[in-house]
Amino acid sequence: MLTREQILEALRDVKDPEINRSLVELNMIRDIRVEGATVSLTVVLTISGCPLKAKIEDDVIGAVKALGAEEVRVQFGSMTDEERAALSAQLRNSQGGQTHNMTPGQAPLLNPILAKDSNTTFIAITSGKGGVGKSTVTVNLAVALARLGKKVGIIDADIYGFSVPDMMNIDQRPTVIGETILPVEKQSVKVMSMGFFVEDNSPIIWRGPMLGKMLRNFFTEVHWGEELDYLLLDLPPGTGDMALDVHTMIPQSMEIVVTTPHPTAAFVAARAGAMAKRTGHEILGVVENMAWYEAKDGSKEYVFGRGGGGKLAETLATELLAQIPLGQPDNHPSEPDYSPSVYRESSEIGQLYRDMAKRVIEKCEQK
Ligand SMILES: Nc1ncnc2c1ncn2[C@@H]1O[C@H](COP(=O)(O)OP(=O)(O)OP(=O)(O)O)[C@@H](O)[C@H]1O
Ligand SMILES: [Mg+2]
Repeated sequence: MLTREQILEALRDVKDPEINRSLVELNMIRDIRVEGATVSLTVVLTISGCPLKAKIEDDVIGAVKALGAEEVRVQFGSMTDEERAALSAQLRNSQGGQTHNMTPGQAPLLNPILAKDSNTTFIAITSGKGGVGKSTVTVNLAVALARLGKKVGIIDADIYGFSVPDMMNIDQRPTVIGETILPVEKQSVKVMSMGFFVEDNSPIIWRGPMLGKMLRNFFTEVHWGEELDYLLLDLPPGTGDMALDVHTMIPQSMEIVVTTPHPTAAFVAARAGAMAKRTGHEILGVVENMAWYEAKDGSKEYVFGRGGGGKLAETLATELLAQIPLGQPDNHPSEPDYSPSVYRESSEIGQLYRDMAKRVIEKCEQK
């Protein structure tokens, strides 16, 4: 007959898909009973309506059956407020299962992702003006990095103009355990956005200090699971207070500057680049978006002018990472992982993003 210990040992390998830690370690397995070849147990979920319940159930049954049980009966319960608070504290104290050394004087709850010895590379996507494609570039670069096997997160730092949830078609809300927030995963990218906390797209009116606080919360209270390789930040347009806040909050961040090919746009973008440099951020490169329109006969029409990306790269003494033409992703809402703004891997633009992701990895890994 199986023992309780054997069952717990087998369940050590079963992880909560959101928190990415073992169910046993999270103290989520209770009341194990063995009667002959039948095992019954209770899984205590973080929240009662946990969307990943079915996956957890399958994984638990699979693991116990692999031990030789013929029948596995799983009951579900949910944590009490005290248990959630304890779990929240446990997660904060050991982000991703690793402990990081805090520099003296740092707030004890500061997320290790911002710690000096964190292995996560921050890349802020910035531009001089709005509507040039920052969010599109952020989302597609993130997905392209994930397609290359990297662990990637996005912080939609555009607190007023959040757009990442719509662009990736995320309607799921993040799980909140006590004071810890778990990001939502889509296309293997973990996403955190202010849009998750706003009902019905109603406008939010924040005072300046609250904005900075909200953004800080995204760093201090979000549990990213295993350590991320890259965390991309979709910045609000321009060189305003918010952008400055981000610059000072993440001193070690790299930057990608997005511009359209128009020389005037590039001139404005140069200001964003100059601010990055002033705050000590290193510029990884420039992306020229909406670079041209390719007509059916293969000829290129330079609808928004020409040469801005190259000129900006020169001004900022960096490289032109990519030139992305005009074009909509040809995705269909009936597809399982439908994201309206993510280009398919096999499409021409999808390949441009893949090449760009490879170059970004190359540059970042040289450091
Ligand atoms: N290469 C492209 N081809 C066609 N449309 C594009 C391209 N890049 C972006 N767009 C579209 O242009 C619009 C603006 O893009 P996006 O939202 O990414 O810009 P943004 O710089 O983040 O804007 P904001 O400053 O408002 O945050 C969106 O509707 C997007 O779908
Ligand atoms: Mg945007």
